[in-house]
Amino acid sequence: MHHSTIAGLGHYIPERKVTNSDLEKMMETTDEWIVERTGINSRHWANLDTDSTSNMGTKAALMALENAKLTPSDVEFIIFCTLSPDYNFPGGGVMVQEQLGIGTIGALDIRNQCSGFLYGISVADQFIKSGMYKTVLVIGSEIHSSGLDISTRGRNVAVIFGDGAGAAVLTATDQKDTGILSTHLHSQGKYAEDLMVIEPSSTSTKRTEFNPERIYPIMNGSAVFKHAVTRFPEVIMEALLKNGYTPSDLTLLIPHQANLRISQFIQKTMKLRDDQVYNNIMNYGNTTAASVPIALSEAFQKGKIKKGDLICLAAFGSGFTWASALIRW
Ligand code: UT7
Repeated sequence: MHHSTIAGLGHYIPERKVTNSDLEKMMETTDEWIVERTGINSRHWANLDTDSTSNMGTKAALMALENAKLTPSDVEFIIFCTLSPDYNFPGGGVMVQEQLGIGTIGALDIRNQCSGFLYGISVADQFIKSGMYKTVLVIGSEIHSSGLDISTRGRNVAVIFGDGAGAAVLTATDQKDTGILSTHLHSQGKYAEDLMVIEPSSTSTKRTEFNPERIYPIMNGSAVFKHAVTRFPEVIMEALLKNGYTPSDLTLLIPHQANLRISQFIQKTMKLRDDQVYNNIMNYGNTTAASVPIALSEAFQKGKIKKGDLICLAAFGSGFTWASALIRW
């Protein structure tokens, strides 16, 4: 049986940097509050004249393909993870297929919010293990900025989220004990209403007559925080135990960048050293499905991931959904 391995990584961050002091001009907030509660200093917002969720994903994908020394025509399947597609439907995967100019290969969209990329990696891994495909592109891309309530009313959410895209090319390998060792997926819809966007949706009698106040994300921040700090260590341990490892064996943990305080909590609970946890939320905010591939690509570029390293990816978010993947690089 083939295993899957990550052959190339890429990311794209839109140019416009929005600092906490820029947000102070839009709503009643302070740099001090944002840094203290979230660790975020700045995030990037897309320029909607030139950036879209799909084309940012395509840019990240082209970088990943180049790093894998592959071309778009090598891709056999596309998995696109987002909660902010260009259109209500169709999803972003078909847009990437067109933008990359590749043949009529399959394109699947995944809507698992912050855990989306991990779900995508898991699906790609199963396709490769089954022998159906040898090269699968997995993209996480988000534009939050156009869907945030940037008035004081929306400040508990608006200060957290940012835009960006990341991508990974997964390929088949015969090398034993390398590549993706296992993936672990979970959900608990009981808490769906703790982090959601309600409209426009099929629940409105007439979708065109939606309540404009319900188009913004609603978040019960403390509930999300409380569940996140339990589920993250749990799902990371699940991956380690499945493969006979302990936290001290980890070279690098790349947690979904939800809140720096959540990452610090996980680090403390799992007794990990600073060099075992990668964080970049300070610069990009929370980019939901894009956060893990952006962090992974950036960590790789900085030389923090080398052949033979044990890498764990983990995420938690709206749904609730949570997931992990353990990788021998
Ligand atoms: O990918 C998963 C996505 N979500 C998360 O991971 C979020 C997890 N949760 C969190 O990160 C935290 O709950 C937040 C950072 C969102 C909020 O922190 P908190 O300590 O739970 O604050 P809070 O919502 O309980 O609000 C505390 C106070 C409130 O004022 P009062 O009622 O005490 O007077 C808020 O109105 O802080 C106020 N507040 C703000 N003040 C300044 C809320 N947002 C802001 C803001 N600036 N941006």
